[in-house]
Amino acid sequence: MARRPTIFMSCVAFILLLIAEIQALNAETSAGQQNVQADHQMIEMVGSNAYNPPSQLLYWQSALPNTTMPKLLMDLLLPPGSAYDPRGNIDVRPHSSVDATYFLVSDIQQERTVKMLFPKAMNITKFLPRQVAESIPFSSTKLPEIFAHFAIDPKSLEAKTMEIVLKDCEQPFPEEEERRCVTSLESLVDFVVSKIGNKVDVYVTEVENEEAQEFIIGKKTELKNGDVSVICHKENFAYAVFYCHKIYGTKAYWVPLKKVGVDDYGAKISKNFAVAICHTETSSWDPNIVPFQQLKVKPGTAFCHFIRSDTLLVTVANK
Ligand SMILES: *[C@@H]1O[C@H](CO)[C@@H](O)[C@H](O)[C@H]1NC(C)=O
Ligand SMILES: *[C@@H]1O[C@H](CO)[C@@H](O)[C@H](O)[C@H]1NC(C)=O
Repeated sequence: MARRPTIFMSCVAFILLLIAEIQALNAETSAGQQNVQADHQMIEMVGSNAYNPPSQLLYWQSALPNTTMPKLLMDLLLPPGSAYDPRGNIDVRPHSSVDATYFLVSDIQQERTVKMLFPKAMNITKFLPRQVAESIPFSSTKLPEIFAHFAIDPKSLEAKTMEIVLKDCEQPFPEEEERRCVTSLESLVDFVVSKIGNKVDVYVTEVENEEAQEFIIGKKTELKNGDVSVICHKENFAYAVFYCHKIYGTKAYWVPLKKVGVDDYGAKISKNFAVAICHTETSSWDPNIVPFQQLKVKPGTAFCHFIRSDTLLVTVANK
């Protein structure tokens, strides 16, 4: 099954996290609960009851009992006892520079070679525990306060990047209740459960060495229940924030990709997987949007894109 590597990796990550947690607990006990005084601008996590990665994991497990947390999210949990400083961790590239390439459903054809860019996630910011995240303002009217909290220079590119995220999150959305910028793992889980329930499957794109390169498309699998699902994109903020929204009128495919690369020894091939989302009900859409322009097609034509490796697709479980 195509999803096995994801589940396997998540299990490995889960076990490693538990081991790390046990070691950290031992270390903490032997250090006699020493509470290191951190720079006031950092968020002090040592000895704080508020911060406990397994509590985020337990939250996931109790809300979504039969779904393994994907490695993408597992990697965003801070190791226990670490102080968190977002400076230098915010990906400052504008989203437009890493925009999707669009294609038609008929382009997802076995053995076809495509050139794709799967942007590498850079300078990754981590999740804050919900209580901490919710104690910090999240509004474009509170920018000075937010920058001061994280000791971010208001004139920096990082500050500009964060402002764009807040403005995006505050943009009016046609169906307001169907989207939310979630500021913690717990609220991401809550959003998913409130929209599609607690029997879900999670799909992510996993592509090694994510630079523009050529891939050979393998046999695609249509994901069941891809028509009503939730998508969550990671935003470039001082801590992990995801823009989640419900999607309708889509088909989703699991697409194995073979990388075509040439090294000193000749052709080198390895396996990657990507999730393709195809928007099928587009007849009422604006003809001037990028996908129609790029593909030179009219509204009504289905178009697809791969989701980035920092994006989750959550569907109703096929059970
Ligand atoms: C990553 O952080 C470094 C150091 O702060 C910065 O120079 C670089 O521009 C950042 N890269 C991205 C893609 O944000
Ligand atoms: C999880 O799986 C168990 C055992 O198969 C089942 O009894 C339970 O209803 C499932 N719960 C959810 C929320 O999927």
